[in-house]
Amino acid sequence: MPVTSLNRRAACLSLLGGMAALAVPFRSDAEARFDERTKVFRLDGDGVTYAFGIDSVGQIQALHWGGSLAVDDPLPAAPKPSDFSGFDRANSVTPLEYVAFGGGLVTEPSLKVAFPDGGRDLVLRYAGHEMTAEGIRVRLKDISAEVHVELTYGMDKATGMLSRSARVYNRTRRPLRIDQMAAATLNLPFADDYELHYLTGRWAGEWTVQKRPLEAGSTVLESRLGMTGSQNNPWFAVGRKDVSEEENGPVWFGALAWSGSWRMVVEKDILGHSRITAGYNPFDFAYLLKPGESLETPVFYAGYSPDGMGGASRRMHRFQRTVILPGAPAPKLRPVLYNSWEATEFAVTEQGQVALAEKAATLGVERFVMDDGWFGKRNNDRAGLGDWTVNREKFPQGLTPLIRRVRELGMEFGLWVEPEMVNPNSDLYRAHPDWVINFKGRPRSEGRNQMVLNLARKEVCDYIIKSLDLLLSENDIAFLKWDHNRSWSEPGWPERPVAEQQRLYVDYTRHLYAILAEIRRRHPRVEIESCAGGGGRVDLGIMRFSDQVWPTDNTDPFDRLKMQDGFSQAYMPGVMMAWVTASPNWVNKRSTSLEYRFLSAMQGCLGIGDNLNHWTPDEFATAKRLIAEYKAVRATVQRGDLYRLISPQDNSPRSATLSVSDTRRQAVLFAFLHSSSKFEPAPLLQLRGLEPQTRYAVRAFAGTVADDTPKVASGAYWMNHGVKLPLRGDFQAAACVFDAV
Ligand code: DGJ
Repeated sequence: MPVTSLNRRAACLSLLGGMAALAVPFRSDAEARFDERTKVFRLDGDGVTYAFGIDSVGQIQALHWGGSLAVDDPLPAAPKPSDFSGFDRANSVTPLEYVAFGGGLVTEPSLKVAFPDGGRDLVLRYAGHEMTAEGIRVRLKDISAEVHVELTYGMDKATGMLSRSARVYNRTRRPLRIDQMAAATLNLPFADDYELHYLTGRWAGEWTVQKRPLEAGSTVLESRLGMTGSQNNPWFAVGRKDVSEEENGPVWFGALAWSGSWRMVVEKDILGHSRITAGYNPFDFAYLLKPGESLETPVFYAGYSPDGMGGASRRMHRFQRTVILPGAPAPKLRPVLYNSWEATEFAVTEQGQVALAEKAATLGVERFVMDDGWFGKRNNDRAGLGDWTVNREKFPQGLTPLIRRVRELGMEFGLWVEPEMVNPNSDLYRAHPDWVINFKGRPRSEGRNQMVLNLARKEVCDYIIKSLDLLLSENDIAFLKWDHNRSWSEPGWPERPVAEQQRLYVDYTRHLYAILAEIRRRHPRVEIESCAGGGGRVDLGIMRFSDQVWPTDNTDPFDRLKMQDGFSQAYMPGVMMAWVTASPNWVNKRSTSLEYRFLSAMQGCLGIGDNLNHWTPDEFATAKRLIAEYKAVRATVQRGDLYRLISPQDNSPRSATLSVSDTRRQAVLFAFLHSSSKFEPAPLLQLRGLEPQTRYAVRAFAGTVADDTPKVASGAYWMNHGVKLPLRGDFQAAACVFDAV
């Protein structure tokens, strides 16, 4: 039924007007304790203990973050803080949980404010605490001003993941400007051999794993883009050099749940203490708090694993699946989808899409997605964004005939949208040129010929909700691919009083989350993919509203192996879309076999993105067979524990991953050979994560296992002896499944 009701419109306004909460709701059922005598707090969950205490001057100091301690282990009270020298006062050399700029601080603050008289000194002291349903709430207050801060701690008992966020309250009688605000500062245990792992990238080249020693000074990971960005991802891991490896050694890690500009500062101070502070990016940031108002940060999630980088990522994956994603703790399996982008680009028509859908259905595809080009005057990327009505030249009867046909073919229908953007050549921009982010009277830079709508403005949010609501109400749409193809420029909001314009950095992203929540509330059956010209918006904030994410526009299956490996450090394969597309690939003209392309894509959530009109009957047969194989193992690939057996990084000629189901009744092995040189025998791959006593039958569903491989053997055999997949040539792949018998 078309939605025209004014009530709904009113509902949008009140929703956004009343929206206050920013934190991702966190189900914390971990044990939280406070020792009155020592003034020590601790949280325990799944082999992890996090502890902090109130020191003699009322500061909150970190005491332990690592493997779990016995319940009755004595955690000593926080030590008395002392200056190191006249240059380095106590607050700069003490491992504080939340660091205020004031009292001579020279290290990275968690919070920096400005009072109307120009004063910027803030000295926070313990003012009380509550043990809450979420965990622990600690209240701090400035030594004289009515500036209050609440630190919120939670821990997910099942995964041992810690959540931390903060909220600052202005209870003074004058406005207070927040210049910098982090969710938390996390202090690492003292060690001198840390190595920092992080992710960098660019369009079509996301998810590069970087490592560097954590030495004296600071490393800044950030986005100034108004979005998460692929230059850095808001994730870090720290291991100990030569001690922490893929499957061994301690690893501390964390991720910020925020999809706007963010910053993570990894510091090692003059005494060798290391800490990580993450939150809003202070770059161009200012948030005015009127008397009585408060500002809340996003959540900084953190974890610890004694089992190397592999253990750390498995913990993160489990946490995403059981806490963060829509449908958690049991999000739906990702259907095999077809996407039209690489086949047709903007040249979508009803007839052309029906022809592709009919072919896709024969393969076993479950969801047909029409990408860009179906709306407004969208024949290229120079027009149409903002006008979310069906292009009647391409679809004379609207979308109904196409959707009806797709449904008859037994598939769901999905649609591409880019709701946050507008082309200057659009009816929307002509009607509302002031709706974009801009500085008054200044040029408006374009990126991909488009501008960013100002989602901080409620009328813009209403327009987006109304347009999408109409589309979803009038059409049988099961899925939206939500794209975002440029970052911010000229970040102005001229309609707002000058002192409040930089709220844009907070309000835009909060409203984006509110829009997504509202769309999901009104259309609970509709699933959403987060895409930002590739992998520019993947983070724990957007994942709360996204069933899946698009990691990169680069669909070359070999390039993807490395990117998928990087992605998997932080995010689970069960949200990572991967399409099989044309060979040679458009990115680098590399040619690979269809089977190789499938096996690379099957490491995540499988999709087909090639032009099926060009396929031979043999290719249809191969694809149909591999899609059926994928469906048989996808629960293990998407939800299982991932073991990166051989990393594709560092130009290694081989790579291999193993996914093991929760029950350990199934494991799926993918092995790749990038290039053969000389006459190297295939290595024995030792599996991990199986039950040693359980017997597993092996079956290769692509390539073969070595002739001398037993058909059935114990988990101990596969883990201690191994399996050999003989591969020869360039860009070769094999895959097998181990099923408990
Ligand atoms: C960028 C996305 O990453 C692509 O997959 C495609 O949807 C295009 N945008 C469409 O404009």
